[in-house]
Amino acid sequence: MDDFQGRVAFVTGAASGIGLGIATVLARAGARVALADKRGEKVAAAAAALRNQGATTLAVELDVTDRAAWSAAADRVERELGNVSLLCSNAGVNFVGAAHEATWEDWDFALGVNLGGAINAVHTLVPRMVAAETAIRQAGGKGGSANTSSRTGGHVVITSSVSGLFTGGGAGVYTTSKYALVGLAECLRGDLRPHGIGVSVLCPGPVKSELFESTEQVRPANLAATGSVAIVPAGVVRERTPIFVTAPDGEDVGRQVLEGIRRNDLYILTHAEFAPVLEARAAALKRSLPAGAVDPARIEASTRLLDTSVYDNTRR
Ligand code: NAI
Repeated sequence: MDDFQGRVAFVTGAASGIGLGIATVLARAGARVALADKRGEKVAAAAAALRNQGATTLAVELDVTDRAAWSAAADRVERELGNVSLLCSNAGVNFVGAAHEATWEDWDFALGVNLGGAINAVHTLVPRMVAAETAIRQAGGKGGSANTSSRTGGHVVITSSVSGLFTGGGAGVYTTSKYALVGLAECLRGDLRPHGIGVSVLCPGPVKSELFESTEQVRPANLAATGSVAIVPAGVVRERTPIFVTAPDGEDVGRQVLEGIRRNDLYILTHAEFAPVLEARAAALKRSLPAGAVDPARIEASTRLLDTSVYDNTRR
């Protein structure tokens, strides 16, 4: 997708950080942006600030784990802004600590938001995007009512993390949720290609944001029991810790996302320094393959599993 003017974007976790950065960059590119977040007042202020800069925005107070609220939110955005052709599922919470020390509540909270929130986004909005796309194609790209655009093409961005691509241990709950999102995005890319809808998975390294604070603010009382260590690691002061001082901000990442959508990149990565870790993981996987020749009959029988087309069209 290259034409953002007048497109309707739905961004979750948009009250601050990466989501707000994506919303800001999309709005500057001409998109009409629904900013959704559980922190209602904060997202209302963010949407109003963008409106003051001339953007068309709508603030939506939404808990991404609330399935009934999802369809009401989607209906409202369609009514007030038009059909969504850009979905950025980005809301997330942070968890530090070993997997075996996490409580049931840690797992339910983190998987509910990080993975469940993305599943709810896909379940609610993607069938609507496909239906709109099909209708436009059947009409030959002509017409379009107040609530529909006559332009084809849509895009889904799912925010995972570098913790969705490799791990050094120490964040088992978070890492589990983020690996799952990479799988979801890769499958969806294959599934949506025939519909003309692109899919990218955003895997940022450290970014300046409110993640430590917001995780505490959005955690429901019934899932309060935690076995994980403090969200901000002991001794870390963001203003002084190099990994945060040197980190990009939400708008920096938003610009990388815009380019990724334009090029229909499968992966949007933000930090070049992780190349050796990615190479080490890929090499470990390759080394684990059993030695010896593969029976051609098995290759013949696994055509679908051996299809590499999802990984075509990635950069470099
Ligand atoms: P942030 O705290 O600035 O933004 C996250 C937003 O998600 C907050 O506004 C929060 O209110 C919202 N949210 C949390 N639970 C929600 C729920 N149930 N329903 C609706 N909204 C909810 O933090 P940041 O860093 O911008 O996080 C955005 C995404 O980026 C997250 O998925 C995070 O895991 C991911 N990420 C962040 C990195 C970083 O270093 N900041 C690195 C890699 C990934």
